[in-house]
This record gives sequence, C-alpha cells and structure tokens, in this order.
Amino acid sequence: MRAARSVFVLTGAGVSAESGVPTFRGGGGAPLWKGMPFDVISSAGMAARDLPAVWEWFDYRRDLLQSLSPNPAHATLARWQDKFETFTLATQNVDGLHNAAGSREVFELHGNIWRARCLSCEERVDVRELESRERPPLCRLCGDSMRPDVVLFGELLPPGVYEQAASRAMGCDLCIVAGTSALVYPAADLPVLAKRAGAFLVEVNPERTPLSEFCDEALERKAGEVLPLLDF
Ligand code: OAD
Repeated sequence: MRAARSVFVLTGAGVSAESGVPTFRGGGGAPLWKGMPFDVISSAGMAARDLPAVWEWFDYRRDLLQSLSPNPAHATLARWQDKFETFTLATQNVDGLHNAAGSREVFELHGNIWRARCLSCEERVDVRELESRERPPLCRLCGDSMRPDVVLFGELLPPGVYEQAASRAMGCDLCIVAGTSALVYPAADLPVLAKRAGAFLVEVNPERTPLSEFCDEALERKAGEVLPLLDF
C-alpha cells in the first residue's frame, strides 16, 4: 500500500452490505419482487413492456436506501482519494453511498438509482427533486417519459464510462476488488485488465469468486472490517 502510486478500486454490492443494502447474489438466494427475479424486473424488456412497474421496483429500493448510511469501507475509500498520486474508484453499485461518504470522482458503471433520464432527450434529474410521484415522470424539457438512469439487464453500459475506467485500470500498480461476485461483465474484466498490465491484485470478499485464484491476495473478510485495516 505504501509503495503504490496508482490505485484502482472496483466495488460491488458487498461493499454496501454492511450498510444494510441487500446483495444480488449469495446469502440466501436471489431477491424476488412481486414474484419476479431481479434480473426480470430490472430488465430492458420490462422497461419496454411496463415502465411503471420498473419505477415501482426502483422506488421500493430507494425507499430502503433512504435511511441507510455509508459504512467504514466507503469511508476508507473516500480517504484514499487523497493518499495516492492517482486513485480511481469504479463501482457497480447504484446506491450513491460512495458519494455520500465523500468520494468525489466515482465511475458509476451501472448508473445511479437517484437519477432519472429522459427516454428521448439528454435531460437528467435527481429523483428527489421531482415534484410529482407520477410514474413514469415526464421530462420537463420534451414531455417524454423518464426512466431510472441505471443499466438494466440487456443494456450496454453508459457510453465512455467503461473505457475510461479500463484505461485507469490498465495504468494502476495496485488493484483492489471488493464486494463483488465478479460474475457480471464487462465490470468483472477491469481487475483482469489491471493484473494483465502488471498490477498487484487484491480481492476483499468473505466468499471466494471466479477471480480469487487469479489474485495475488484474496482477503476473505468483510470489506468494512478489512479496508480500514489497510488504511495507513
Ligand atoms: P453480487 O450480489 O453479485 O455479489 C456480492 C458479493 O459481495 C458476493 O461475492 C459476496 O460474497 C460479497 N459480500 C457480501 N458481503 C460482503 C462484505 N461485507 N464485504 C465484502 N464482500 C461482501 O453483487 P455485484 O458483484 O455487485 O447490476 O453484482 C454485480 C451486478 O449484478 C450489480 O451491479 C447488478 C447485478 O445485476 C445491475 O443492476 C446492472
């Protein structure tokens, strides 16, 4: 850690687990919403068929998040942004907890649950600032429907964000991957790119993942416990 000049961190749902955010996989089976698995209700197909139902699911998740706060893993990562020559934080989480902990630049690979975007134009709004609970909300610029600004199953990542994160990953000398099952692509490729470009790769996850064997160190502990121990 002390020798590292450029650090790249990829986080997943496990980093928010200790804040009370349910993970997608592991720990007692996949979550269901009104009988639908999360990859059905959170899919591009469902947004095309029934956008209000997708809004209802994301409203439910936002309601859960409202009372939750960042944990020591988020706080440690926020401190690291000022400790290294270059520090990059990329996350698959949409909960905004890295920002809430004070991280200034976060590569949000899967979007942000607190943001909505217009289906037709470039307009984006903070959902908390919408005046009506009408679902879907209508764009104040063009009047078309708005949708949650998150990546749904069957969709590509927002343009540019993966490429920028990949370029940072390939330039780092230490890569830490925390709280992700490393099953969802292309995010799961980022630590692989880092390692192939010569970085030392560390995983923080109480369970082993497909990435564990490939890592230089696999720390089988919770992120909120182990990341503060790596702090200096
Ligand atoms: P997953 O739910 O797939 O995996 C969570 C991982 O966190 C598991 O490997 C757990 O072992 C680990 N974990 C649990 N508690 C932990 C803790 N306290 N500290 C560290 N690790 C812990 O979550 P992701 O890998 O983030 O995409 O899932 C990737 C994507 O799949 C999500 O972004 C989401 C989902 O489809 C979209 O919604 C587009």
